[in-house]
Amino acid sequence: MCGIVGAVAQRDVGEILLEGLKALEYRGYDSAGIAIIDPKNQLTCLRTQGKVQELVNLYKKSPVLGKTGIAHTRWATHGKPSECNAHPHLSGETIAVVHNGIIENYESLRKELVQAGYHFCSETDTETIAHLIHQEYTNTHDFLQSVKNVVKKLKGAYALAILNKAEPDHIIGVRFGSPLVVGLGIGENFIASDLAALLPVTQKGLILENGDIVDVHRDHVDIFDKTGKKTNRSIYESELTLDAVNRGQYQHFMLKEIFEQPKVLEATLQNSFSDHHVLIESFGHKARELFPKIKQIQIVACGTSYYAGMIARYWIEDIAQIPCQVEIASEIRYRRTIVAPNTLFVTISQSGETADTLEALRQAKDLGYMGSLTICNTPESSLVRESDLAFITRAGKEIGVASTKAFTTQLAALCCLTLAIAQHTTPAKNLKKLVEDLKHIPEIASKTLETTNRAIKDLSGYFADKKNALFLGRGIQYPIALEGALKLKEIAYVHAEGYPAGELKHGPLALVDKNMPVITVAPNDDLLEKLKSNLQEVRARGGQLIVFNDDQTGIKNQEGIMSIKMPKVNPILAPLIYVIPLQLLAYYVALIKGTDIDHPRNLAKSVTVE
Ligand code: G6P
Repeated sequence: MCGIVGAVAQRDVGEILLEGLKALEYRGYDSAGIAIIDPKNQLTCLRTQGKVQELVNLYKKSPVLGKTGIAHTRWATHGKPSECNAHPHLSGETIAVVHNGIIENYESLRKELVQAGYHFCSETDTETIAHLIHQEYTNTHDFLQSVKNVVKKLKGAYALAILNKAEPDHIIGVRFGSPLVVGLGIGENFIASDLAALLPVTQKGLILENGDIVDVHRDHVDIFDKTGKKTNRSIYESELTLDAVNRGQYQHFMLKEIFEQPKVLEATLQNSFSDHHVLIESFGHKARELFPKIKQIQIVACGTSYYAGMIARYWIEDIAQIPCQVEIASEIRYRRTIVAPNTLFVTISQSGETADTLEALRQAKDLGYMGSLTICNTPESSLVRESDLAFITRAGKEIGVASTKAFTTQLAALCCLTLAIAQHTTPAKNLKKLVEDLKHIPEIASKTLETTNRAIKDLSGYFADKKNALFLGRGIQYPIALEGALKLKEIAYVHAEGYPAGELKHGPLALVDKNMPVITVAPNDDLLEKLKSNLQEVRARGGQLIVFNDDQTGIKNQEGIMSIKMPKVNPILAPLIYVIPLQLLAYYVALIKGTDIDHPRNLAKSVTVE
């Protein structure tokens, strides 16, 4: 989703802003722009449709000097991707605004502004904000006060960065639902959607709270909370380094992140065990008090994180023997729910800023849950700050839009959660083997990458002319089939569906012919024999099977069946391992199809609007 960068410095900020936009490319966008107040006190604005590189090329042709500026990558909501809908939006050649989020009442505001004589150049909701601030400033001649007055009129969830040519020594930021951080430098200060955008200039930041307005000057920043009171926010040092946001030897971030999985799984599991049990404290200091009382769990998430939740349900009900429900955040927030006593509300999120998940958490607070826990990869995110308990996955920065290492570390965390709760419901001796097997997962992940990478790369050519694919799994592998299908859709633009193999004959079998690849995850578990029967149904209709399985399954390469062998793994933990070849498959098919793997069309990494 949209990315914001702003800078007030003693040096020219153009390149800093463009570097910042490049670092925010991972969020997904379709156009970009920059506005700078130049030494002659002119407000210069450059905007392009397409990649940030287009903007960089334009900037190189006509560089803009100036020490105060804002910049933006836009992910279209109101109005198609185009140069005139790209941000910044200007009013009266004086005010420039960049915006992430949605202004819900923009139509009525726009009408009033048109009646007041304002002319609109774009179809966006954002331009309304620029004109409103211009209108207020014409009356008050006080930039900060104007922004404060305008914010009172806006409805929706948003983050803003605003520039005023008449007051060139500061910029103003607003956080109201969408993320915004302040970057602290020496004699220069910044704002951005994510501190990763500012790594070349600072690792030190302030996290704004919802409703905060920040007035950023070269030598100081003033923050006002939602009541208008001047306030302080605590300083944090980002653990991110420039290395973490570089591709290194890999052609794409996605491949780098797939190969990082053994390391980040190890990091996620590292501090969670003492001998043969999970440390309850890894979930936060209140966990010891809450966990023994849990009678039910409600998991809520979006996208790939939702599939992690689906897998956790199998674990929680099977191992901890506690009822567990899983729901998509954008669904649960809009229906009446009945909360059973002592239900823990669990969110799962890589970014910690997904609008629907965050809103679902906020609603849950009034619904009588015993408490909230988030499994999250971003320690400074809104979900972590607003939940009672948090388990931080150690995936590190994930840049590729398609989630890979974030997913497997979420699974590792959810398995730890299951084991932590199970300590109160199940005899310790039943859990010991599982803890030991979980500790070996990073090693098995590494072996999986080693043994399957080449075979999957070779296999990908088979998909060059394929337009559809089916993914099958049974039991705990069903969500892995869904995730495999999602990956192929997201980055290779191949229409794919994930199905529980037992459902095949209730519909999808009608699609099976020699042009339909059927990818199956088939570890040696209790459902293997039933799955084999489902595979026969596919073979009998001429479908081409690609089966991921281990030596013990007895599945062999033969006409119509490509068997890819996987290392041995405890079947209950197999989702952590069997998703890896499906990630590789999506990657190599996308490579053949020539898609933009790290930034697939129309998608965003962090979905901060509902
Ligand atoms: C977007 C991303 C997905 C991600 C989903 C949920 O759709 O492209 O990869 O799974 O958002 O994001 P979250 O940050 O909450 O895990």
